[in-house]
Amino acid sequence: MADDVAPRTASAYLDPSYWDERFGKEEHYEWFKDFSHFRHLLAPLLSPSISVLEVGCGNSRLGEELLREGVAGGITCVDLSPVAVQRMRDRLAEQGTEGVEVVVADMLDLPFDRESFDLVIEKGTMDVLFVDSGDPWNPNPTTVDNVMKMLEGIHKVLKPEGIFVSITFGQPHFRRRFFEAPGFTWSVEWSTFGDGFHYFFYILKKGKRLLDSNGNQHTQPAAPSINMFHEELESEDYIFRTNVDEL
Ligand SMILES: C[S@@+](CC[C@H](N)C(=O)[O-])C[C@H]1O[C@@H](n2cnc3c(N)ncnc32)[C@H](O)[C@@H]1O
Repeated sequence: MADDVAPRTASAYLDPSYWDERFGKEEHYEWFKDFSHFRHLLAPLLSPSISVLEVGCGNSRLGEELLREGVAGGITCVDLSPVAVQRMRDRLAEQGTEGVEVVVADMLDLPFDRESFDLVIEKGTMDVLFVDSGDPWNPNPTTVDNVMKMLEGIHKVLKPEGIFVSITFGQPHFRRRFFEAPGFTWSVEWSTFGDGFHYFFYILKKGKRLLDSNGNQHTQPAAPSINMFHEELESEDYIFRTNVDEL
């Protein structure tokens, strides 16, 4: 991250004009980590025929990485920022890259038909909704409404056995209440990646939710212990995290 794109407060991440201004100056920034750090988790979910939607692509290179992995069923990247979208289109055109469509869209109102994609992926985009959530154990109603809107939209555009991947700071005790809300048919699993600080890689498989006789989803054991020291976070992840999961 260039110094001149750092926000003054984390709540700026909720302001569309912040992103437009930032993407006007910044060529490339990968939130959390780039593809090489979680390839071992994502690659097993890919195959040539799948169609992929990336939500909140910013100026990440994840779309191109998916193409390089052989995804040929169509990759659609969306972002709320017209500046990010135009710059990504320009970049793809300069590279002569075909097979990635880039569209301005609001993740709270996705403009796609029901059951359009095999895989939906977001990296750091849902976390934006949490920057002013208040108490992470009891997020404010606006945060809850928006997160649910985002997830309902993703659930809708996924094919019946589609997969949603969420790459985030958000720990299972803060995210499961959303992912496992009634009405979603996906199962919820997660792994971590990263060296000092661990990031979460959630895999939600539509149509695979397993409920016990009490209606509760079977869950995997708690994630391995996580290093919570902010100093371990790289550059901007620190600003993001301070308001995300403050304990
Ligand atoms: C933290 S950045 C992550 C960017 C990228 N996924 C990455 O890993 O580098 C969040 C992105 O979400 C986008 N965004 C914020 N609100 C959005 C919304 N309502 N709909 C779609 N994109 C949104 C921002 O423009 C920004 O590109």
